[in-house]
Amino acid sequence: MDIQFKAAGIVEKGTLVVFASDNVKKKGSVVLSQTAKGLDEKMKGALSKAIKISGFKGKKGSMTMILTPAGLPLSRLIVLGTGKGAKLTSHDYSVIGASIIAKLLTSGESDITVAFDEVEGSTVDAVEAASRIGEGIRLKSYRFAKYRTKEPKSKKPTVKHVVITMSDHKAAAKRFKTLDAVASGVALTRDLVSEPANILNPVTFAARIKDLEADGIKVTTLGEKAMEKLGMGSLLSVGQGSAHESQMVVMQWNGGAKDEAPLAFIGKGVTFDTGGISLKPGAGMEQMKWDMGGAGTVVGLMKALAARKAKVNVVAIVGLVENMPSSTATRPGDVVTSMSGQTIEILNTDAEGRMVLADALWYCQDKYNPKFMIDLATLTGAIIVSLGKEHAGLFSDDDDLSAKLYDAGIETGDKVWRLPLHDNYDKLINCDIADMKNIGGPGAGSITAAQFLKRFTNDVPWVHLDIAGTVWAEKDMPLSAKGGTGHGVKLLDHFISENYE
Ligand code: BES
Ligand code: MN
Ligand code: ZN
Repeated sequence: MDIQFKAAGIVEKGTLVVFASDNVKKKGSVVLSQTAKGLDEKMKGALSKAIKISGFKGKKGSMTMILTPAGLPLSRLIVLGTGKGAKLTSHDYSVIGASIIAKLLTSGESDITVAFDEVEGSTVDAVEAASRIGEGIRLKSYRFAKYRTKEPKSKKPTVKHVVITMSDHKAAAKRFKTLDAVASGVALTRDLVSEPANILNPVTFAARIKDLEADGIKVTTLGEKAMEKLGMGSLLSVGQGSAHESQMVVMQWNGGAKDEAPLAFIGKGVTFDTGGISLKPGAGMEQMKWDMGGAGTVVGLMKALAARKAKVNVVAIVGLVENMPSSTATRPGDVVTSMSGQTIEILNTDAEGRMVLADALWYCQDKYNPKFMIDLATLTGAIIVSLGKEHAGLFSDDDDLSAKLYDAGIETGDKVWRLPLHDNYDKLINCDIADMKNIGGPGAGSITAAQFLKRFTNDVPWVHLDIAGTVWAEKDMPLSAKGGTGHGVKLLDHFISENYE
């Protein structure tokens, strides 16, 4: 599907989308956009009449549709509500774009023209607004259909060309190019988290990452021997029950100044989490194929940065393991030594993500001297209890990084919410036999998990994002179908472009 930006002109075929907002001065009536007004005149008032009859009030995201409007060469004319038009945020514009394609993607239509008209008094400038509509169209048209061999034609996408018309179309096309590059990263993340665990294991995942060398990313892979040599007893303890060799993959994008310290992103990549010997219950276990969502997000971010040629140095590290029960698996009560030298008593083999990140974080700060580290992990079920599926949990001692990430969440729609860290939570993972245990008490499960990670950051500025609630959606979301969301890629891309380029 191609998405283009052009100057307004006569639309000769397909579906035309125009806008209308609710009239703040006269409740219950709508204000037509410039283009809609022009069409209404051409149609001798038929458009306003249709709006009235259908009860369309211009509510944000609502739609009314006229099929084969008389006197026009169109298959459909859609009027899309923008609510209180001037109040729309950039993210709202993405959602509006998404609602257009959600309606038309498999409708049989091949051509869509969206007539964007500037909204008076809007806080979002027209170029940003129009290009975000394009972004929403791109993001919402993603599907993971590779294993559906018998899909009926009626469910297949039919839209081939989208044109968004506006006056400053050259600037919008340029801005969209960047957003589209980031969307390619989001799509990669969704692909990775959707892939079943018989296809995506630590070794095949590492190979997929290696493909990113074609994008100009430097990729280095460490196998079990190399990790043993480095003393990564914590990470290795998780994968030792699996037939698939654990991997650590380092990606580097060097688009910044030569001597500039890199920003670092670290991802939990448990390609399947059975819980290990502390086996999970059967119901819903299939969801644990996306327990590599942190790694998937970090990989999608790197793809996005490379695709838009970001002027920044970034290192990304993912720890790829499969957590299986077997005769070689870790037992509850086992004590291991991490790369940092700190020892860990494993009281629950299902608290494995932190074991992976412990060595990945330590290795990252030790080898790459980053400006800061941000880790992403589907770390705890408890974060879903706290925040549901709306916000990712954010843990950090750094107010500045936390605020920047919060702002990026608002702008992109990938929202984050900060939860506390405190010495009193840290004490809950102290242990008699070793330096720490891998679980806290019954309460504050997401926080004690974060406190565990903090012990491996060596005081480098650090943020932990618990994305267990946001990686996957059981129902359609504003910008994605049910399945992998890609939440976090736009967040971090925007956080970087806004603050470090
Ligand atoms: N991968 C899970 C967390 C998870 C649960 C993600 C549900 C998405 C949905 C993690 O490895 C885990 O099992 N955490 C345990 C920790 C506990 C044993 C301290 C949990 O949350 O129950
Ligand atoms: Mn687990
Ligand atoms: Zn897990």
